[in-house]
Amino acid sequence: MPNYLPEPFRIKVVEPIHMITLEERRRILEKAGYNVFNIPSDKIYIDLLTDSGTGAMSDRQWAGLNLGDESYAHCRNWFHFEKAIRELTGLKYIIPTHQGRAAENLLFSTVAKDGMIIPNNNHFDTTRANIIANGGVPLDLVIDEGKDPSLEYPFKGNVNITKLENVIKEYGKENIPVMMLTITNNSGGGQPVSIKNIKDVKEVVSRYGIPLFFDACRFAENAYFIKIREEGHGNTSVKEIVKEMFSYADGCTMSAKKDGLANIGGFIALNNDSLAERIKERLILIEGFLTYGGMAGRDLEAVARGLEEVMDEDYLAYRISQVKFLGDLLEEAGVPILKPTGGHAVYIDARKFMEHIPQSQFPGQSLVVSIYLQAGIRTVEIGSLMFAHKDPRSGEIVYPDLDLVRLALPRRVYTSAHLRYVADSIIKSYNNRKNLRGMKIVEHGESNLRHFIARLYFVD
Ligand code: F0G
Repeated sequence: MPNYLPEPFRIKVVEPIHMITLEERRRILEKAGYNVFNIPSDKIYIDLLTDSGTGAMSDRQWAGLNLGDESYAHCRNWFHFEKAIRELTGLKYIIPTHQGRAAENLLFSTVAKDGMIIPNNNHFDTTRANIIANGGVPLDLVIDEGKDPSLEYPFKGNVNITKLENVIKEYGKENIPVMMLTITNNSGGGQPVSIKNIKDVKEVVSRYGIPLFFDACRFAENAYFIKIREEGHGNTSVKEIVKEMFSYADGCTMSAKKDGLANIGGFIALNNDSLAERIKERLILIEGFLTYGGMAGRDLEAVARGLEEVMDEDYLAYRISQVKFLGDLLEEAGVPILKPTGGHAVYIDARKFMEHIPQSQFPGQSLVVSIYLQAGIRTVEIGSLMFAHKDPRSGEIVYPDLDLVRLALPRRVYTSAHLRYVADSIIKSYNNRKNLRGMKIVEHGESNLRHFIARLYFVD
């Protein structure tokens, strides 16, 4: 039996969940076009679609909601929000947004011009889409170790420094307005980036005058991995590690729906005066005034309190061990998962799980559908459905390195008994894997964000 840490909280409020019948699940899948984004949440028993905005807030956060000051400008909660983020990041300008992708939109619509290159370890889907929508070109430069799901390596989110330097030389620093670094690297398996790699990236880009921005959604989970995996950091507090991480950043975008422990919210923070001015102007145009950016006063308060709570090391130890617990249960039964387990999710290697289904037939999506049908559990594909795209030059379809199914764990929501049920159900699907069939897209295949809206069916 894998090790686990008991939850460092008691449950004060509960939300009932129910299982519906197999027949009903079959009917619902058909109606949803075999896309789990289309399934009503009350038809789901355990929802592992995302860890974004789905967490349970603490009593302290709920108390904070009652202190919401809904004045239009410069409300009380804004000052708390700004202070919490400034203390965390040390950055000069704090610009609130209603969630992470709004921060991305503001950044890339301000800095990206036609054909400009934006490198990252791996871009998340909304980041990639926001860059493309603004005429830019997203580039993924994660290390090769990060592309091998079965390889145990402590920092699979690291950037390949040689590749980064070559990209800058090839395209020219004037064509690279910003370097992004996603911590932890969601599309690559929730894998952390080491302090050493952050430092090395900063050293390279600053030599060319390119600013370094974190996609900081899961900064606290990243910092905890540095504490337990990177030599020389075992005795440093997470708070100190976070401080050091951000000391190398010129800015960040953040979805507070993850390590902000809130249900909504986000921000951009940065040092550059003229860039901040331009972003603020756009903020007023599309999100809201400078001190609320699309959030209510009470949401600002929940985020401020969440950012303070998330660095609690008892919480982080439990969080990381909960993900590992689920991963260990699956691995012991032979289910191929991405190793080591990451910060917010267990990722199943769908191509290995179903070697008989080619990438062109979306093995990950077939598994997602099967897991819902068999057990009422909603998961998400992070693979060919999400990322395969036509190369604009050759016209050929480029497939992603990995076809994964993500079991994302909402923060502070499910207990280890829930996770045992999840593991048992997936192990059943694994033992039945030969019967799973490939899939094809029947509607909305051309969209850059097709995984949200596509309708699918089984191949003959
Ligand atoms: N960057 C990363 C690394 C993310 O994981 C997400 C969201 C975003 C940006 C965008 O933030 O949702 O607040 O607009 N990830 C969620 C997920 C949706 O399921 O992984 P958002």
